[in-house]
Amino acid sequence: MLAARLLDWYDKNARRLPWRYRPGEAPDPYRVWLSEIMLQQTRVQAVIPYFDTFVRKWPTVAALAAAPQEEVLRAWAGLGYYARARNLHKCAQAVAANGGVFPDTESALSELPGVGRYTAAAIAAIAFGRRAAAVDGNVERVMARLYAHAEPMPAAKKRLTALATALVPEQRAGDYAQAVMDLGATICTPAKPVCGLCPWIRNCAAYKAGNAEQLPVRTEKAERPTRRGVAFWLERPDGAILLRRRPQEGLLGGMVEVPSTPWRSEEWSTDEALAFAPLSTDWRTLRGQVRHTFTHFHLELSVLAARASADADGHWCARRDIDDAGLPTVMMKVAKLALKSK
Ligand code: ADE
Repeated sequence: MLAARLLDWYDKNARRLPWRYRPGEAPDPYRVWLSEIMLQQTRVQAVIPYFDTFVRKWPTVAALAAAPQEEVLRAWAGLGYYARARNLHKCAQAVAANGGVFPDTESALSELPGVGRYTAAAIAAIAFGRRAAAVDGNVERVMARLYAHAEPMPAAKKRLTALATALVPEQRAGDYAQAVMDLGATICTPAKPVCGLCPWIRNCAAYKAGNAEQLPVRTEKAERPTRRGVAFWLERPDGAILLRRRPQEGLLGGMVEVPSTPWRSEEWSTDEALAFAPLSTDWRTLRGQVRHTFTHFHLELSVLAARASADADGHWCARRDIDDAGLPTVMMKVAKLALKSK
């Protein structure tokens, strides 16, 4: 009954998103998979333009598999969590090697690179109509409220997953999965939920108790530490900028960057930093700092700039190509600071 009421609400209120299908249309597993990978840790509004670009550039999983990794990382630049892009490409190659056919069960899907439990369940339900529960933070919040489950996170995850799983209907499991997502995103929001419009208002224990906004209970997160580094903006007389590619492993793996010192908690003196400079030359400190927050730390980068007097390790990127060079957001901030310092 809960599921039926939610599906009825979804039929009238579903968000129109580029990876969604009209009733009766058969979903394309490639588009479902691509959207679900992009939607991991990233908001719908941020994903839409990237999704459109990817399906335009690579309309099939075989096309994506055949693209060079650099191209995929470049198209992904700005979306964050770059391990997703590397795994996306690996996964495309695995599926292409299987004749371009995605597996159609939750357990087989979860063996693919970059496809965790949540994503496997989402794809199984949305692309293949399997009765699978895709439980992310939004769904946990909806369940915590519906059942007024006050156990603190993350311990509560197990129970909330069981509650969510029990509700999934046999029919229209894919629509149901997306309906819960939409409910969490548009009605049962973290702050100021719009309970008056919720199809589950009469069933919601937290609404009845008046504590929806306090659920789920979260223990205070540890503060993010700050790391510091110095970036080197090296410009050739013709205006080209020195960039290099990061190693495959680790944060921003495989992405293009402006060369920098390692990132550490202590401040850098200029002399210490210069030991990491791509070229021994006359560096000047630019005014201002770049700040960027990653999942596990804040980063503060100072920027040193110089005119290149000789070649250096990396590749030169013409000034007009900087926006399309595939720099991740933190490195675009370095570029912006350097370019406005002229
Ligand atoms: N978040 C994760 N998957 C989603 C989807 N298919 N639609 C909307 N939001 C989502």
